Amino acid sequence: MSDEPALQEAAAALRDSARPVIFTGAGMSAESGIPTFRGGKDSLWSRWKPEELATPMAFQRDRTLVWGWYVYRMAQLATVQPHAGHWALAELQARWTALTVVTQNVDDLHERAGSSRVLHLHGELMKLRCSVCNRPFTGFDVPALETMEPGQRLEPPRCGHCDGFIRPGVVWFGESLPTKTWARAEAAIRGCDLLLVVGTSGQVEPAASLVGLARRGGARVILVDPDESAHAGQADLHLRGGAGAVLAGLRDAL
Ligand code: APR
Repeated sequence: MSDEPALQEAAAALRDSARPVIFTGAGMSAESGIPTFRGGKDSLWSRWKPEELATPMAFQRDRTLVWGWYVYRMAQLATVQPHAGHWALAELQARWTALTVVTQNVDDLHERAGSSRVLHLHGELMKLRCSVCNRPFTGFDVPALETMEPGQRLEPPRCGHCDGFIRPGVVWFGESLPTKTWARAEAAIRGCDLLLVVGTSGQVEPAASLVGLARRGGARVILVDPDESAHAGQADLHLRGGAGAVLAGLRDAL
């Protein structure tokens, strides 16, 4: 848990903020049971190579491996719940009605805890679409996690319109971010006076550049992360602890 004076200082800064924005990464979902991408033996990229699973080339080369891996992650998401930190962030919306959550996460845990105005920079796992004509694909039944093995191969369904293979609605390496979502995230962060950065290593651009954008706009930057992150040097305050306890503590100290 982060030290109390730092938490009180962060709560005071948040209390004085007129336009806070929240920026989250995989560490925000870790305590719900969703593995992070980096750091730790269970992180996704320590077990699989992103170039084998999270690129358009990978899907063209081995669609059953890629689709099976994402279906496994969908099945995992169906078994987890938002944690105290998600609920605490959603409660902040009662105080700042225009509060925007800019997230790199493709899960729906912020929304399930009641946050609205959530901008998914890297897309959304459950928003399936055709890899050819881009039509949304609905009605996919996610198998129960206990019936699946990590790394299991599965044939993706086909689009009813053009017969193309269906893909997850996430942004793969080498693909551009959704332009409207990015523009809304940039506008929110340009206009914020405080950026609360939770659980992101700051390794992936252009998302990571948003913290510098906030600083250049004069915003205070508060980092919530138990470990170091590339953003530590840009933070006015670093609350060293897990998102659940720190965000609930922050809400209680407001
Ligand atoms: N609470 C808060 N932060 C945590 C917690 C926790 N309980 N556990 C881990 N963290 C921190 C780690 O210290 C690390 O700084 O969360 C961060 C997770 O970093 P990454 O796994 O790199 O996740 P992220 O920064 O979101 O990755 C960005 O990379 O592979 C792509 O598309 C993927 O959106 C992802 C992007």
